[in-house]
Amino acid sequence: MTNSWAPHSWRGKEIRQAPVYPDPAAVEAVERDLAGYPPLVFAGEARRLKAQLGKVAEGKAFLLQGGDCAESFAEFQADNIRDTFKVMLQMAVVLTFGAACPVVKLGRMAGQFAKPRSAPMEVQDGVELPIYRGDIVNGIDFDPAARQPDPRRLIRAYNQAAATLNLLRAFAQGGFADLHKVHQWNLQFISGSPQGKRYEELATRIDETLDFMKACGVTPDDVSQLRETDFYTSHEALLLNYEQALTRIDSLSGQWYDCSAHFLWVGDRTRQPDGAHLEFLRGVQNPLGMKCGPSLDPDELVRLIEILNPANEPGRMTLIARMGADKVETGLPPLVRAVKRSGQKVVWACDPMHGNTIKSSSGYKTRPFDRILAEVRGFFAVHQAEGTYAGGVHIEMTGQNVTECTGGAQAISEASLGDRYHTHCDPRLNADQALELAFLISEQLKSDRRERTNGQVAAAQ
Ligand code: PEP
Ligand code: CO
Repeated sequence: MTNSWAPHSWRGKEIRQAPVYPDPAAVEAVERDLAGYPPLVFAGEARRLKAQLGKVAEGKAFLLQGGDCAESFAEFQADNIRDTFKVMLQMAVVLTFGAACPVVKLGRMAGQFAKPRSAPMEVQDGVELPIYRGDIVNGIDFDPAARQPDPRRLIRAYNQAAATLNLLRAFAQGGFADLHKVHQWNLQFISGSPQGKRYEELATRIDETLDFMKACGVTPDDVSQLRETDFYTSHEALLLNYEQALTRIDSLSGQWYDCSAHFLWVGDRTRQPDGAHLEFLRGVQNPLGMKCGPSLDPDELVRLIEILNPANEPGRMTLIARMGADKVETGLPPLVRAVKRSGQKVVWACDPMHGNTIKSSSGYKTRPFDRILAEVRGFFAVHQAEGTYAGGVHIEMTGQNVTECTGGAQAISEASLGDRYHTHCDPRLNADQALELAFLISEQLKSDRRERTNGQVAAAQ
């Protein structure tokens, strides 16, 4: 690999998962338009996130990354954005209490449109059409016109991302994120479900803490941290022409940033060391993620990190393990050990979704809540055993009351999956399931913390 890099240098490399457009000239015209549009995020924000992720790598903060599997044009409504944001805030409060450290909030939002697929074509009743690759590429309906990749969708996705980000910024800074309010929502969850009762004790302790702070004069009126929050955006950097068009030189640092989102990740299917996706991502200065599935070889992982983070900058790399509940305890330790041996500073996060997808008897793609929990538990157990830090979770979720994953507090059965199954791609946790997961992780974080403290006390004696 030569070391020179430009936003277009990926075009000289082999690329996977790229849509085939019928009219290349129309694609080029759209790319030119996009390149003239304003950036969606600022380089300084991406740097701030990188610094916060550096704290996660040191074990001093925790990462919560979540949102849709695939954003869609049809579900683009203020209420949907608000509700997902709201659940992430609720989860973050619970996690902050458990981890006793800041929680970095990162949405799979405002740009998470393109999907890698396992086959390029789909066959239904003997008819073969291009596979659906996300609303930024083509339409989900199984008809020839909808499935034809259309470059105008790139512009629509950009506009939707801009409007989403605008609303998220307003929610984060405009009073919606008030800690007391978020806690009140959590209390509603607890009183509203039988499963919620389990978390009453934890919620009471948060209640007492807030009362104590109030008594000391620490209130949202006086302390901006109690009424505002940082919220960042992320998506899989899959469509490299879209990413290239939004890549700009930051006037402060003189460096390249992909201004389509604060954080970008490379998927499990496109992380070839000499492929186009690695080539693009190595040259932008944003914090990056990489999905680590069961097929990843430990030496290859170390090599990939060297390509993306040669200076070993803390906060640059987040490794998102997605092994599956049955593979995490055997598959993850060799990866964790190889990275530890190499001295690379990374954040380890757990994606308990993508390794646990099954087809239900009713034909729906689903994920059993128990399997999701089992993977998270396995992930924490591995890091505990290896002496490394379980730094975060990466989940597919929505604030809507969907029925896409089985189990959880409402005990969603396979038979009821069809009631409110709205996802455009993978099944998501609904609001209650996501919050329940946060309470369980919070308990885990708390007990890990207690063990670490006891270990330190014992060592000092
Ligand atoms: C995703 O995060 O939506 C995804 C496709 O994940 P992976 O690359 O891990 O399969
Ligand atoms: Co997905």
